[in-house]
Amino acid sequence: MLNGEQGHVIARALKTLVHYGKAFGAQRLVPIKSAHLAGSFGSISYSAYYIVLEQFIKAGLRVKVPTTINPRPGHDLNLLNRIAFGKQNALDFKMQQLGVTPNYSCVCYEKDNVPNVGDCLAWSESSAVQFANSVLGARTNRNSLLIDLCSAITGFTPEFGYLLDENRRGRILVKLKISKMDSAALGFIIGREVVNKVPVIEHFNFSRTELKNMGGAMAAAGGIAMFHVEGLTPEAPDMKTVFANAPPEATITITQDDLQNLQTKKPQQAELVVFGCPQLTYEETIELAEYFKENRSKKNIWFCMIPEAKLRFEQTDLYKNIRKNGVQVFSHCPLSALTVQISRKKVLTPSGKLFYYLKGAEYSSLDECIKTCREM
Ligand code: F3S
Repeated sequence: MLNGEQGHVIARALKTLVHYGKAFGAQRLVPIKSAHLAGSFGSISYSAYYIVLEQFIKAGLRVKVPTTINPRPGHDLNLLNRIAFGKQNALDFKMQQLGVTPNYSCVCYEKDNVPNVGDCLAWSESSAVQFANSVLGARTNRNSLLIDLCSAITGFTPEFGYLLDENRRGRILVKLKISKMDSAALGFIIGREVVNKVPVIEHFNFSRTELKNMGGAMAAAGGIAMFHVEGLTPEAPDMKTVFANAPPEATITITQDDLQNLQTKKPQQAELVVFGCPQLTYEETIELAEYFKENRSKKNIWFCMIPEAKLRFEQTDLYKNIRKNGVQVFSHCPLSALTVQISRKKVLTPSGKLFYYLKGAEYSSLDECIKTCREM
């Protein structure tokens, strides 16, 4: 493949991976079980990206492994988004030609791209990478746009970083002095403090949803691609094993006050409350929607869901009730949809990731956000 026997375009894709791997000290390429692409926004400014995609398509290439893709950007929400993401339909078509699964979700691991323990992957999208490594026990680095695609097209990734045992063990011990858990805030603070090492959190019985939202916040506020929870995540049966019999490089303690300090003091000033970053699962939505089925809120409320979960949710009476009460249910990425705005409403969110990336957004815990929406 590298010598061009399968064509010069795929040779260049593989050569890109070889250079990328050499830069990180990789000794070899390894086959992957799946890919997940981050390049789902049809922005008018991504011309170089479209040129590469066109080259792949013209050469008749298709992805060699099951490959999913991140959410769409809310290109049909308003005129400004329609202009900014004016290449969306063309990009969607290119991805279809390449054989990419049109799941349009950053929570690809719920249904369309479910790895097994130990699988080598080439995923981008930091929140999905985090979940795959930490919760599912699969192995992937935080790849970038185009690197993810080169891997999907060739079926290989360079072996370095989180593909190797020695880089997956715990480095920093995180102790908790918390009486009321707020997993997104905890993830945000760990990301900010630990930055790019592998944290090991003292045992806490986080739900799958909490792990998703905590991991997303951690991967945004820091460069973390893997965490462990003592006695909960697959590679952390106990402290000795997860630290490979070595002492932690450092220990940090996160308290209830730390979580509290992240919260805005004035949640009631919010005009728009956004739930779902990473996108809401079906189960998460059902639980959340219960709070909005009786009364109309004074706030604008967005639920951003996994598209497949949204289709199922639309069949329920609960969906009809919350729509009647003014809740808007979408399946796009709220960050991209809200980034292109002339004058944006004041945003409040229980998502540590959206809070980190969306300029001017305020954070409150999930309970506080629900309370704020329900105040009459
Ligand atoms: Fe997903 Fe967009 Fe948030 S890709 S994690 S919904 S920023």
